[in-house]
Amino acid sequence: MDIRQILAVTLFGMTLITTGCAEHMSMMKNSRVSLYERLGGRPAITAVVDEFVGWVAKDSRINSRFANANIPKLNLRLVEQICQVSGGPCTYMGQDMKTAHAGMGISNAEFGALVEDLIAAINKFNVPKQEKDELLGALTALQSDIVERS
Ligand code: HEM
Repeated sequence: MDIRQILAVTLFGMTLITTGCAEHMSMMKNSRVSLYERLGGRPAITAVVDEFVGWVAKDSRINSRFANANIPKLNLRLVEQICQVSGGPCTYMGQDMKTAHAGMGISNAEFGALVEDLIAAINKFNVPKQEKDELLGALTALQSDIVERS
């Protein structure tokens, strides 16, 4: 190997080590820091929920469902729920999802519409893909408790 080849190999090796380290550190960070903290805590969650409730209110596919809802209370429960499932220091004080939605006959399409509104709300803020996917994953996992008809 001449000096140029040695330099090239050394540079390649250093690049691999640096990239590996950055990836490793980001994984370490994500496993140690709760989703709640990575989202920006309660103020950020409250902002997303406020935005989300606005999208639902304008969504003619599902807004009639909320005609008799207590919106400030629902808003508070959603913040508590997201705070708790994301590992934050909150206690969700509402009913479990099966009980809360029992007898409403919510369909998969309605659930999908609500998730679309949630995505639209999240997209209004600078939520990185990793955190967005984790939050959506935690909430869409509740689908089978909420949906009663296909
Ligand atoms: C990931 C999806 C969903 C989540 C996380 C969620 C969460 C909640 C929560 C936390 C409550 C409050 C329960 C309580 O006060 O004890 C609630 C109530 C309610 N939800 Fe959902 N929900 C979801 C999907 C849906 C869908 C798809 C609909 C209809 C299209 C819906 C309609 C309602 C209604 C009408 C109430 C009652 C509100 C009131 O009476 O004040 N939810 N939901």
